Amino acid sequence: MSPTAPGADTPDARSIVGELDRLAQGFREDISALSTEQEIRLAQARYLGKKGLASELMKTLGRLPPADRPAVGEAANKTRAAIEGAVATRLAALADAALVGDLARTIDVTLPGRGRPLGTLHPLTLVRREIEGIFAALGFEIRTGPWLETEWNNFDALNTPADHPARDMQDTFFVEGDFILRSHTSPVQIRTMLAGPPPVKIIAPGNVFRRDDDATHTPMFPQVEGLSVGASVSFRDLQATLFYFVQRFFGAGTEIRLRPSFFPFTEPSAEVDASCFLCQAKAPARATCRLCKGSGWIEIGGAGMVHPNVFKAVGYDKHDVTGFAFGMGLSRMAMLKYGISDLRLFYENDLRFLQQFPPG
Ligand code: PHE
Repeated sequence: MSPTAPGADTPDARSIVGELDRLAQGFREDISALSTEQEIRLAQARYLGKKGLASELMKTLGRLPPADRPAVGEAANKTRAAIEGAVATRLAALADAALVGDLARTIDVTLPGRGRPLGTLHPLTLVRREIEGIFAALGFEIRTGPWLETEWNNFDALNTPADHPARDMQDTFFVEGDFILRSHTSPVQIRTMLAGPPPVKIIAPGNVFRRDDDATHTPMFPQVEGLSVGASVSFRDLQATLFYFVQRFFGAGTEIRLRPSFFPFTEPSAEVDASCFLCQAKAPARATCRLCKGSGWIEIGGAGMVHPNVFKAVGYDKHDVTGFAFGMGLSRMAMLKYGISDLRLFYENDLRFLQQFPPG
């Protein structure tokens, strides 16, 4: 192989490098006057495209002495990078300018702002919070328990033997394994007493599950459990607590009435009624009252004194302590409080209904 002989048409490396530098410089000048992306891209193609100025120049590379080629190649790369850099800078500047222009055009700072609508609290949440607040004022702590419960917590420990009707498949949801969906919040009584010694003074709000589904029953519904256990907790304390509650929840002047009833885990047991806050249980309004249906009373829950067998199950000595417990249906409370006539409204998520309650 013989080295390429120098001749008249032999390009010289130094002048090519000089030209490449000038190309980059010329390109910068060219595009400074351009104001659209399209024009700038066209200019770029004119310099760097297959038939562009730089490519033409590079065609002479093959005729250079091999020793000179790396220097020219390097200069060509620098020129390409310089041109591409100039394109990017110029396009970014145009985009900025366009943005500033848009902003100046479209923002009228004198226009009123767009409001962001606030969500509302669900009526069941409102009622739960209100009930929690009322019992907190009496020194009750809030406890919760899991939806999946053991049969022991939900039934056995609550003095509900295996052959009790409440344990029937009809009422309780059985889950694979040894669990059930709790059928009331009373197992939170058990969990709380197992967790520590008396005194205990708690309320336990939460959802419970029963195999019930019609106009006045849903398979899941919220309850609030109450439990007060101590050295000398009396039936009178239960009455006073419930009385205080209805005064604050339904209004001053509300009365309570306890009717004998039965629950396996309380003895004695009672159904709790509140006097109808709509007709005040007074004639003549009472006769046509749609809420209490003329009875003057509204049932709000069950209650009673904790059964000795429950204390036995949790290891409390029935000679040391007495206690009362109660359970109320939260959806019923919300229906009474807000005059809602259909239980299903709570679970349909219809905004026209939900938006009628105060924002959170
Ligand atoms: N657990 C009972 C129910 O769901 C209510 C209740 C609670 C009754 C506590 C008495 C004492 O029906």
